[in-house]
Amino acid sequence: MEKYNIKYFYKRLYCFHKKRRGAYNKANAYIPPFHLENIMERGLETFFEGFLKKESVFFDKKALQSSYIPETVNHREDQIKQMANILAPVLKGDKPSNLFIYGKTGTGKTLTAKYTTQQLTEIAKRENIPLEILYINCKLKRSTDTEYRLIAQLATELGKSIPPTGLPTEEVYKAFIRALNRQQRNYIIILDEIDQLVSKAGDNVLYNLTRINEDTESQISLLGISNDIMFIDNLDPRVKSSLSEEEIVFPPYNALQIQSILKQRAELAFNKGVLMEGVIEKCAAYAARDHGDARRALELLRVAGEVADRKNLKAIMIDNIDEAEEKIEKDRILDIITTQPKQYHLLLFSILSLKPNRGNALFTGEVYEIYKALCKKTNTTILTQRRVSDIISEFDMLGIINAKVISKGRYGRTRDISVEIPEAMLPRIKKILEESIRI
Ligand SMILES: Nc1ncnc2c1ncn2[C@@H]1O[C@H](COP(=O)(O)OP(=O)(O)OP(=O)(O)O)[C@@H](O)[C@H]1O
Ligand SMILES: [Mg+2]
Repeated sequence: MEKYNIKYFYKRLYCFHKKRRGAYNKANAYIPPFHLENIMERGLETFFEGFLKKESVFFDKKALQSSYIPETVNHREDQIKQMANILAPVLKGDKPSNLFIYGKTGTGKTLTAKYTTQQLTEIAKRENIPLEILYINCKLKRSTDTEYRLIAQLATELGKSIPPTGLPTEEVYKAFIRALNRQQRNYIIILDEIDQLVSKAGDNVLYNLTRINEDTESQISLLGISNDIMFIDNLDPRVKSSLSEEEIVFPPYNALQIQSILKQRAELAFNKGVLMEGVIEKCAAYAARDHGDARRALELLRVAGEVADRKNLKAIMIDNIDEAEEKIEKDRILDIITTQPKQYHLLLFSILSLKPNRGNALFTGEVYEIYKALCKKTNTTILTQRRVSDIISEFDMLGIINAKVISKGRYGRTRDISVEIPEAMLPRIKKILEESIRI
């Protein structure tokens, strides 16, 4: 039975591998991998037509995007009421108190702030009350990298364009104040992810913004939003007390609240009857596991829909949620790793190369030795052990490794490091790291 010997097995495996990746034949013509072969045989046009006709579980995927603002915001009635109370004086021409909003990620802070200020703007427009809301997401815009850029950005939003660099900062403030005075009105400046602004540009800019009302006829109120609970405590005390004249806390949602948020969005996003029983409940349970994060729940449901579509299923099954979770986690890890600087790659590569031989007990000192050798080999500056230790903590926070601090008696403290990356992803990640550090 020659057919079943080991050589035959490997030959078949090799053929399969070539078919899966595509290969060149003896005449040096490229044979596409089998999943594309089909498309090419039928012609691209037929493929695209087929794609268009293919049924999807989605009716309107936009409703699951995080930028989508639903018509009603449920389970945030208290926060909306508090916010409305704080901002309402603006309708009578008074300056509202500055407001600081905080709560963990995905608890509806951005949505609620946008929703409430949109309603406020509509009433102000209807009643001819001069009000303008300026919204800046300090995480996204490069324009919040420095004090100069933020003020220039605010002035630009008011129609006064300022060159991106070159003027003394004081001039930029003056131009901003002139723009404010041009139309006397109340402004509410929303600084979303305000902690990112402070970590990039320092808190001086907030100090100046809270004092700017002394120099202008218009009135400015600040609305800062952050998911970093410690952020406010690290501010200059004067900035802290002005920014948080009022505070609103957003607690995490519980699993039932997330279920109702998902149902509201799913009704708009999916075709009728495509959600198998238990799908919403499972998504909500997963999202409520760490803390009630509505963004995570919506993403899980969207990716589960995409998985079902890719598999040509007519409905989203409970298993698709596990597949979606796996995919999101993989994407998250890849995303984190690829966006880190080279020093981080060197360190992670050192950890990964030590790992297979060392079981669970991997200590900071050993990692540092390997890291140093690697730096020498790749002609890179060697960071201090202290800095390396900080990077290890960052990896721990990002969930890529787990670094437990352990005491080694009179030899001080070290950390026991274990890798949290799924085994199946390691070869791909090693390749990314190798390419980055060029070894
Ligand atoms: N009560 C709600 N009703 C409907 N959708 C909600 C609700 N709360 C949150 N969402 C949705 O969940 C997602 C995350 O909400 P949002 O962006 O407001 O969170 P966040 O608190 O600002 O989080 P982060 O701190 O990460 O910025 C958005 O898609 C939002 O539309
Ligand atoms: Mg937000």
